[in-house]
Amino acid sequence: MQPTLHQLKVFETAARYKSFTRAAEELFLTQPTVSIQIKQLSKTVGFPLFERLGKQLYLTDVGEELFATCKGIFEQLDQFEMMVTDLQGMTQGKLRLATVTTCKYFVPRLLGAFCEQYPGIDISLKITNHHQLEQRMLINQDDLYILSHPPQSLELHVQPVVKNPLVVVASCTHPLADQKNIPIQALNQERFIMREAGSGTRQATQTLLNRHKISVEIKLELGSNEAIKQAISGGLGISVLSRHSLNGREYSDLTILDIEHFPIEQQWSVAYLSGKHLSVVAQTFLDYLLSIPMQEKIPWNNFRD
Ligand code: PGA
Repeated sequence: MQPTLHQLKVFETAARYKSFTRAAEELFLTQPTVSIQIKQLSKTVGFPLFERLGKQLYLTDVGEELFATCKGIFEQLDQFEMMVTDLQGMTQGKLRLATVTTCKYFVPRLLGAFCEQYPGIDISLKITNHHQLEQRMLINQDDLYILSHPPQSLELHVQPVVKNPLVVVASCTHPLADQKNIPIQALNQERFIMREAGSGTRQATQTLLNRHKISVEIKLELGSNEAIKQAISGGLGISVLSRHSLNGREYSDLTILDIEHFPIEQQWSVAYLSGKHLSVVAQTFLDYLLSIPMQEKIPWNNFRD
């Protein structure tokens, strides 16, 4: 009996995440289905592929070998698919894109225009935080990445896309709302709503606060910029967010505080792993992204200072 490609895909995904639940999520299967597929595969191979110690799932030695084999198989299949797509030209193919959460304010809109031009292209867009994006880069999960701080530890091709200033956002009723040139020390002991650990926005904020020895009271941690804006509106505290997350229409009760050393000047860049052979589809999207003038990438410029 031979293992099926489907079983190998299920195994490879579960081995990558060391979790049946996360594999089920990625493959749109149920957790019991993943479990059954892996059980059948172990039976075919004749050895257990995973072992569970406490709550943690580990690969057995045979599992490690099979994982390495699967990576080779799927990489070759990807190369083959890419070659066929390249032969077909730009009529169809798949673009795997991953961006940090702050990019959701402009990337999906750009994709709309791109898809209109190339209707045969399927796009998978993963929006996650900086740390998760780095993890995806490590296992070569996507074609292109858009983020603010490309990791130094990886060899990447990086090209700047758009500026991403980080600003202090507060409710319009905050006592500092109408003041100008506020010293950064005014943030001492302020109630803060922070992004989750692993967020690049949080890291940049914390670095600046540490540099000036400012200690804030973290009232709440949230993994979503939108939820943070709601929490600021609800009077839970202030936060640091990408200026692009405030387009001035929906959040009329929020304001940007004029705090010294802000905005933190950041830049979103598009990156891909050095040595990666970009498919025609990925290269076309990259050229498209870099060719659009800044003003068209971020057409709203009605920020309230
Ligand atoms: P993040 O985004 O806070 O969602 O990690 C940071 C960034 O803009 O790179």
